[in-house]
Amino acid sequence: MGLGLLGGLVGLLMLWVVVNFAGGLIPEFLLAPVRDPALLDKAEAKQCGDCHKAIYEAWKESRHSRAWISKNYIKDSEDRTKEKCLPCHIPQVVRAGKKPDPRLDQRDEGIFCVSCHVKDGAMHGPHNVLSPPHPTRQNQNYNSSKLCGSCHEKTFEQWEKTGERETCQSCHMPRTKKRLTQKPPLSWLHREQWVGDHRFLHGDFEADTLGVQVSWTDSRIVLGLKNQTVPHHVPTADNGDPRLYLETRLLEDSGKEYDNIREILAPQQETALPYNQEVTFRYRVPEKVRRASIQILYRPAWSKEKKPVWSGDFDRNSDG
Ligand code: HEC
Ligand code: HEC
Ligand code: HEC
Ligand code: HEC
Ligand code: HEC
Repeated sequence: MGLGLLGGLVGLLMLWVVVNFAGGLIPEFLLAPVRDPALLDKAEAKQCGDCHKAIYEAWKESRHSRAWISKNYIKDSEDRTKEKCLPCHIPQVVRAGKKPDPRLDQRDEGIFCVSCHVKDGAMHGPHNVLSPPHPTRQNQNYNSSKLCGSCHEKTFEQWEKTGERETCQSCHMPRTKKRLTQKPPLSWLHREQWVGDHRFLHGDFEADTLGVQVSWTDSRIVLGLKNQTVPHHVPTADNGDPRLYLETRLLEDSGKEYDNIREILAPQQETALPYNQEVTFRYRVPEKVRRASIQILYRPAWSKEKKPVWSGDFDRNSDG
């Protein structure tokens, strides 16, 4: 009895070790009975979500899942009739550094699991893991900005020119240690791995993202604005129209408004803020203007809502 139990435990331990550390030793023919070929043939995202539940739910929240059903996209692509819009919004297969071909089916899913992971009869990903239901292949491109650059062409170019090494993934898909699947017994058998956030986070404006400098002369106010932390233009876009609004209220001593000047900083107007370069704005102001109250607002490409991301007041004396 005792020996049987011990044998069982040793067996389980060996299975765990093989699955997690020596998966490559198992010949493919032994895995055939547990393989599900349907996963490599036009699976829906939901099917992947059967096991990769957490990743599926994160992706559902991402803009990638809305790339084909987004209202702005439908409007700007003339009701989806413009052929040249298809490759990046409904890609067939994403290969690092190559603009994808568009696909004909499952269009509502936009940029989905299969576009990014199914290639040459296997699930390509960053890890060396054994997956019983489908073959996997480790592919270093998943850790590379080049994969994102297949579609984020302009942003990738901007990023490359900065010479910074931090990848798109490290900021937009930050990693945490978790299980890849949430389905037992797979989730018991496989150890934790690094998992990238599949919400493809937008990126936040922090206090130091934008550096703002103000100086006064007798007849002018000079504003210097610098993108200090983001290694691409702020904002950046390939086709969307995200915008920063720079609003400068000039106030007289009494508090009366002398002027309210607005600037639009946007990729479509070629006024977005390049990395680590100061952009200056000079306004003529009479002596009676004593204070500048500055506000910066941001509007993403897919929304009409502007939200404040920075504000500050500058007096002529203290900052002179
Ligand atoms: C080379 C790849 C590529 C092509 C081709 C492409 N897009 Fe996009 N599109 C992107 C990327 C990347 C984004 C996300 C960044 C941004 O906002 O531009 C995007 C975002 C957008 C957005 C903003 C997000 C939203 O849903 O509101 C719109 C609108 C859009 N594209 C419309 C179009 C239209 C219309 C065309 C065809 C004229 C087109 N795109 C062709 C890559 C592409
Ligand atoms: C029946 C369960 C199941 C389904 C359904 C499933 N997977 Fe997996 N997948 C796994 C398991 C198990 C692993 C390995 C997990 C581990 O080692 O932690 C895995 C690993 C992966 C990896 C990692 C590969 C690597 O080398 O980094 C990717 C990518 C992946 N799956 C994508 C998908 C996609 C895309 C779908 C849908 C088309 C899908 N999976 C459907 C169970 C499943
Ligand atoms: C197949 C083309 C494609 C690939 C590959 C791709 N993206 Fe995208 N991405 C898009 C499109 C198109 C959108 C806009 C979708 C929409 O809103 O309509 C987008 C949107 C985004 C957004 C949201 C932008 C916003 O305005 O909120 C982020 C962040 C993002 N992608 C990051 C990444 C990262 C990181 C990678 C690489 C791991 C990547 N993308 C790979 C096409 C792609
Ligand atoms: C725009 C391309 C893109 C889409 C869409 C996408 N992934 Fe990924 N996936 C990636 C990248 C890049 C990584 C590597 C992230 C990392 O670890 O830094 C990754 C990693 C993974 C991994 C390994 C764990 C990890 O995060 O490293 C699994 C499993 C996975 N994806 C499953 C899915 C499933 C399931 C879906 C759909 C619900 C999906 N992916 C949609 C690009 C994508
Ligand atoms: C050091 C972190 C960092 C890296 C690396 C990075 N980004 Fe960003 N990204 C951000 C932050 C922060 C924002 C929000 C500020 C903004 O709106 O530009 C952002 C915004 C975006 C947006 C939303 C549009 C916009 O600018 O408002 C897209 C799309 C994007 N990044 C794509 C990429 C791609 C593609 C790469 C790799 C080539 C990349 N990012 C590399 C931090 C980063």
